[in-house]
Amino acid sequence: VQIVRNSEEFARVRSGLEGTVALVPTMGALHAGHMALMSQAKRRADNVVASIFVNPKQFAPNEDLSRYPRQEVQDIAMLAEAGCDVVWLPSVADIYPDAFSTKVSVSGVSDRWEGEARPGHFDGVATVVAKLLLWARAHVALFGEKDFQQLAVIRRMVADLGIPVEIIGVPTVRDADGLALSSRNVYLSAAERRQATALPRMLDEARRAILAGQPATSALEETKQKLITCGFRQIDYFALVDSATLEPLNEPRDGARLIAAATIGSSRLIDNMPLVVESR
Ligand code: PAF
Repeated sequence: VQIVRNSEEFARVRSGLEGTVALVPTMGALHAGHMALMSQAKRRADNVVASIFVNPKQFAPNEDLSRYPRQEVQDIAMLAEAGCDVVWLPSVADIYPDAFSTKVSVSGVSDRWEGEARPGHFDGVATVVAKLLLWARAHVALFGEKDFQQLAVIRRMVADLGIPVEIIGVPTVRDADGLALSSRNVYLSAAERRQATALPRMLDEARRAILAGQPATSALEETKQKLITCGFRQIDYFALVDSATLEPLNEPRDGARLIAAATIGSSRLIDNMPLVVESR
């Protein structure tokens, strides 16, 4: 695996890659979810570039930028093991040199849910992802469905700006007890970790209730209440939405998705599930 840190070196290495390139953008602290992105990337392109960049622009001032888990040596070893060709670790100055003034803002799909809870977050994501995609001249880029709204924002941005890349969403990888893997799960205490499994359980319960014919509003309200009983102290949203626009839905329809964000202890967890699980 080639390890590349600065932009000139990356440009040189990128020019030397023959055939198609898949990009796996990450913020490091890699886990099996990222490895699922890697294995899809390997199947879809001749070369795989994985980037590790903890993007300051997508963290609000009150968020965990300084304590975000960092484990570069382990990440590089995992990527090498997964058959990555190039690990790209740009610096903040590479991505945002002095006088950097551009912001990519995707209205509509960014507005609600995470956009409301984390103002500016999706501008930071869209700006860095646009830059990484253009710089890597990627043919394919892979993102986890765990951050479902992020995936929808990136799809919208790529379509709107005509960036010539295929965006692939990869299903969420879960622990055996159902909890979605996330780099931030390390913040959970053992007790919170156990209680956290209520989030995927309640999404699944709401899913089954809606499919069985219960009106979505009452199914969502009931499962929300159960989440509180299970130990979650705040629920930012628990909703049925259209997967492309993220607009809320009152009734099930094709492509509907359940999305949720809730806080346990001091950790805010997000998760989502398709209303109808498609066979892949
Ligand atoms: O999902 C992430 O890890 C980040 O939001 C991403 C897409 C790498 C952009 O910084």
